[in-house]
Amino acid sequence: MAKIIFPEDFEWGAATASYQIEGAYNEDGKGESIWDRFTHQKGNIVNNDTGDVACDHYHRYQEDVELMKELGLDSYRFSIAWPRILPAGKGKINQKGIDFYKSLVDQLLKAGIEPSATLYHWDLPQKLQDNGGWENRDTAKYFDEYAQIMYRELGDLIPRWITHNEPMVVSMVGNLWGEHAPGFKDYQKALQVAHNVLLSHGMAVKSFRESGIDGEVGITINLNHVYPDSDSREDQIAKDYCDAFNNRWFLDPVLKGKYPEKLMDLYQNKFDKPFEMEAGDLKIISREIDFLGINYYSRALVEYDESEFLNFKSIKPEDSDYTAMDWEVYPQGLTDLLKRLDQEYTKKPIFITENGAAYDDQIAEDGRVHDQKRVEYLEKHFQAAHQAIEEGVNLAGYYVWSLMDNFEWAFGYDKRFGIIYIDYENNQKRILKDSALLLKDVIEKNGLEK
Ligand code: BGC
Repeated sequence: MAKIIFPEDFEWGAATASYQIEGAYNEDGKGESIWDRFTHQKGNIVNNDTGDVACDHYHRYQEDVELMKELGLDSYRFSIAWPRILPAGKGKINQKGIDFYKSLVDQLLKAGIEPSATLYHWDLPQKLQDNGGWENRDTAKYFDEYAQIMYRELGDLIPRWITHNEPMVVSMVGNLWGEHAPGFKDYQKALQVAHNVLLSHGMAVKSFRESGIDGEVGITINLNHVYPDSDSREDQIAKDYCDAFNNRWFLDPVLKGKYPEKLMDLYQNKFDKPFEMEAGDLKIISREIDFLGINYYSRALVEYDESEFLNFKSIKPEDSDYTAMDWEVYPQGLTDLLKRLDQEYTKKPIFITENGAAYDDQIAEDGRVHDQKRVEYLEKHFQAAHQAIEEGVNLAGYYVWSLMDNFEWAFGYDKRFGIIYIDYENNQKRILKDSALLLKDVIEKNGLEK
């Protein structure tokens, strides 16, 4: 067996998000978020689960940082709940919200773990939603104001800032497919949301530069490398539309300052005016970032289907392995994706800000959690990431999703992504799964056996 070793300054981490782990949904002055509202409406979430308590991280963060220290994490990626800081989304600041993140960051720094903060991981203040949410251009302005507050309060302690997590999911899953908060099914609304979210990203990058903070700012985009089912011209068309919809609609404005033309033409034919955009918006959106964050879980394999608006249909090969989310395990897709980003989009550092898998974990008789499938999933993706580095990609770090089992959005607590098991019924006990021990070992060695 050969060993693979990562570059010396490679950063190993794990990631979480506020609504998925914190709980304390109405404590210490926090305002209501769209996810509070959405989960409190019956029928939206499996088992009608909510994030009211989640992993109770708001009260247990010290214990959780201890666990991160035990794993040897270089960095921890978490998100800040906007309605904890500004209960109404704008205006009056809730000091207790700021204090919570300050304590968390202090604790991390004491443990020698670098904090990496995401400003928006989907928990929009409900008050802003009442005013149109991300469909309203003013929300971008309020986001920028909120970002400035955080830079001012924590800018000297947090070296890496991520404006948004997955604008594609925010816009499409929440506003076109209706599976996430706020739960709309409206194509034009979704396109407007996508644009305003990207605009707010650019505005917050500008404010970051103006703040003079000595740190880095970037964005996290979810990407899945797309493969055509055959070499046919039709399947190539399917691949191009799928890629434009999933990936390029978000990558191109941020890194190239334009929207993909063919998809824009299609939208213009369908809607006449697909969404409102002002002159100069793309310039703002494409302001230079310091790094690109990507979330990778699986690939897309597509074939041509004339009956679909975007002419593509996804295929699930029978002989592949699938996770509990029914997502195909396809590590090669990570290597191919990273190489493509390097060739077509950026030479800046790339961070894999999320990668991981859900499986139906059980506590074994020995009291441990032997999540062999997740161990294999992670090993294969570590190798795939390493392969990309070998081929010249500027990959700077890797965060496993997720540090702990948590509220998996529409699936509630039914899906477990953690490398730490949460025993929700047994006083929220934390148990390191075998995958956590794998990560600890990989971090110690800065590599693994191939
Ligand atoms: C999100 C996470 C989510 C994970 C697994 C990503 O889309 O950023 O919040 O839990 O994927 O679905």
